[in-house]
Amino acid sequence: MRRVVLAYSGGLDTSIAVRWLIENRDAEVIAVAVDVGQEADATSDSWEAIRQRALAAGAVEAIVVDARQEMAEEFCFAAVRANARYEGKYPLVSALSRPVIVRHLVRAARDHGAHAVAHGCTGKGNDQVRFEVATRALAPDLDVIAPARVWGLTREQSVEYAAKWEIPITVTKEKVYSIDENLWGKSIECGVLEDPWADPPEDIFTMTRITAGSPVEVVVGFEQGVPVSLDQERLAGHDLVVALGRLAGSTGFGRLNMVENRRVGIKSREIYEAPGALALLMAHADLEDLTLERDLQHEKTRLEPRWAELVYDGMWYSPLKQALDAFMTESQRHVTGEVKLRFSPPGLGAVVGRRSPVALYDRSLATYDTGDTFHHEDAEGFVRLWGLGIATWAARQGEGRSES
Ligand code: ARG
Repeated sequence: MRRVVLAYSGGLDTSIAVRWLIENRDAEVIAVAVDVGQEADATSDSWEAIRQRALAAGAVEAIVVDARQEMAEEFCFAAVRANARYEGKYPLVSALSRPVIVRHLVRAARDHGAHAVAHGCTGKGNDQVRFEVATRALAPDLDVIAPARVWGLTREQSVEYAAKWEIPITVTKEKVYSIDENLWGKSIECGVLEDPWADPPEDIFTMTRITAGSPVEVVVGFEQGVPVSLDQERLAGHDLVVALGRLAGSTGFGRLNMVENRRVGIKSREIYEAPGALALLMAHADLEDLTLERDLQHEKTRLEPRWAELVYDGMWYSPLKQALDAFMTESQRHVTGEVKLRFSPPGLGAVVGRRSPVALYDRSLATYDTGDTFHHEDAEGFVRLWGLGIATWAARQGEGRSES
C-alpha cells in the first residue's frame, strides 16, 4: 500500500477524498489539518472533531498542526513588508496560507514515508496551482493527487458518497458559498456572488459586522517593518492580527468587493473580509512614507506588485520571490515607529498620525513658520539647472523658439 498525505479541512470534499484515495488509489491516507487561524465560531467544529472525522472517513492517521504563529510572522508579515495587494487590492488571504499548509504536508510526507500529497481543490482555481507548485518546490520527488479534479462528482453525488461510506458529515442541502479562511482574512465566492452586479448579502460577513457605535482608535507599533504592538502592548504576531482585526472589524472596516484575474485565465468575482490585514497594510505603508528614503521607496513600490503576483500565482518558494524578499527585508531597516489609526462606522478606516525615532520628516526643513533651516537661496540655482534642458529645448525646438 502506498501512503498519501491529504490536506484535510473537515469539510465534505476532503472527507470523501479520504475514502476516494483508499478506493481508487489503493492508498493509506494520512490526513493533515493545518490550523492557520480559521475562525472558531459557534458553527465550526473543534480540531479534535475534525481529526475524528478524518479517522471515521478511513484515514490511518490524522494530525492537527497549529501553524498560526508561523502563518502570521513568516507569511503575513512578509506580505506587510512588501505592502502586498494583488492587482492593487486583494491582500492575498488564501494565497498566503497555501505555502504554510504545503510545508506541513511535505513534513508529514517525510515523517510517514508517503509517496504523494493530495488536496481537495478543483481545476478552476488558484489554490491547486499553489498547492502543486509549492509541493514541487519543496519536494520534487513527491506526486500530487487532486481527487476533486478527477472524480467529477456533483455536490449531490458527494453527499451520497459520504452517506454510503458512513462518513459523519453534516451538510446543508445546498452549499451556498465557497469560503476559505485564515487569520489574515476570509475569501467568499459562489452562489449569488457569481453575479458581479449583485450586492453581497449582509449575512455572509463575520469578521466585519458592525457592533461599534462610535469611532475607535488604535496605535500600531512597528520594528523594522514588523508589527509588534497595539497601544504599546507587545503581542505575538497572531494575537496582534486577530486583536486588530476585531477592533477594526467592529466598525465594518475591512471588506472588499471586487473582480480579479485568476492564474488559470478566469475572471472571478470575490468578496473578502480582511480587517486586520488591511489595517496593518495601511499603517505599514504610511510608516514607510515617513521613514524610507525617496529612491528606495520609489523602487520598492515598483517591486511590490511583482511580489504580490508571485505569491498569488503560487511562487512562494521560488528564486525570484526569495530575492525580492531579501530586498524587502533590507528595505525595512528603519521602518520603526508608530501609526495611529482611526476606524469609524460604517467601514471607514484611516491613518491619523505617525511618528518614528528615525523619521526622515524634518520639521525644521518642512516648516513655513519660524525655525526654518532650509537654505532658500540654494533653491534658485537648483531650479534653474533642473529646468536648463527644458529651457534649451524650448528655445531651439519648442513653442518658445525664435524663428529667424
Ligand atoms: N480568489 C482567491 C484566491 O485565489 C480566493 C480563493 C479562495 N479559495 C477557496 N478555496 N475558496 O486567492
